[in-house]
Amino acid sequence: MKILTAAGTRAGLHFEFEERLIGGACLEAMGLPVEAETLEACRQADAVFLGAVGGPQWDALPGHLRPEKGLLALRKAMGCYANLRPAKVFPALASASTLRREVVEGLDLLVVRELTGGIYFGAPKRVNDHEGVDTLRYTSPEVERIARVAFEAARGRRQKVTSVDKANVLASSQLWRRVVNTVAADYPDVTLEHMLVDNAAMQLLRHPAQFDVIVTGNMFGDILSDEASMLTGSLGMLPSASLGEGPGLYEPVHGSAPDIAGQNRANPLATIGSAALMLRHSFGMHRESAAIESAMATVLTHGARTADLLGTAEGALSTEEITCAVLKAFESKY
Ligand code: IPM
Ligand code: MG
Repeated sequence: MKILTAAGTRAGLHFEFEERLIGGACLEAMGLPVEAETLEACRQADAVFLGAVGGPQWDALPGHLRPEKGLLALRKAMGCYANLRPAKVFPALASASTLRREVVEGLDLLVVRELTGGIYFGAPKRVNDHEGVDTLRYTSPEVERIARVAFEAARGRRQKVTSVDKANVLASSQLWRRVVNTVAADYPDVTLEHMLVDNAAMQLLRHPAQFDVIVTGNMFGDILSDEASMLTGSLGMLPSASLGEGPGLYEPVHGSAPDIAGQNRANPLATIGSAALMLRHSFGMHRESAAIESAMATVLTHGARTADLLGTAEGALSTEEITCAVLKAFESKY
């Protein structure tokens, strides 16, 4: 909110913030993961900014009451089917990854994850004492619209789309592949390749710079984006934008990190990066968005690190401190 407020001030705009509960916080206050009224308020907003949900104290709850259910309901209610998860290695962090510098250097990829369909939402879904059932279903309109998002994004990047599926086993993936091929015909300037998900997981570690845009279903996208985030140095670095029918939803890719809750040492850069995505995609504030991203690069170049990036608390900046540093760099750049 500090960053958004600063960006607004510079652009002569005033952001109005309305705060609502979701996930664990809402469970504590209301006994359910999200209220219908909150979903409606989010649909009416110009953009939605989301903190992470969940924690071990709610793990034993039945499925429909889990904090994650609030998040899934929000994505669905907002019609945010296209989840953009850019993974980019800041030059200053090329050696912060667990992989060798040469492997991750120059990495700049975008995971386009289908967010409101697939196995997360398929019916039937049930669990009893001896059986758990999930259903993986995709329809051609669902695949087509997410494929278009990926091809459009590739046009503004390096003109390459890798569609990731499991078409050697799954019927839904066979449909996925067919529909992506059809959409590709409208984008002759973009190169399309298909890759099986197990191979994609391996290629991300072997040679991640080969990827430009990765388009994939809900669950594969969940898994591969966590993997991609570690290439950038930390799960605490990856922002995301979820776009679709109405206002955009912006959230870091990481979870709520309950092990360090309340200690003022979480890495806020994924969240700050999500604010930059909000300015770009929801408000067309390209100049402010770029200035925030460049401010993040500057503080990292100057050696600012949170504990997750250092692997130790020694010499690490707090959440508050690194946020102030980004704010200062932003103001001097703008
Ligand atoms: C993510 C998260 C969520 C997901 C969870 C919290 C439901 O892992 O945004 O990647 O699986 O989509
Ligand atoms: Mg995830």
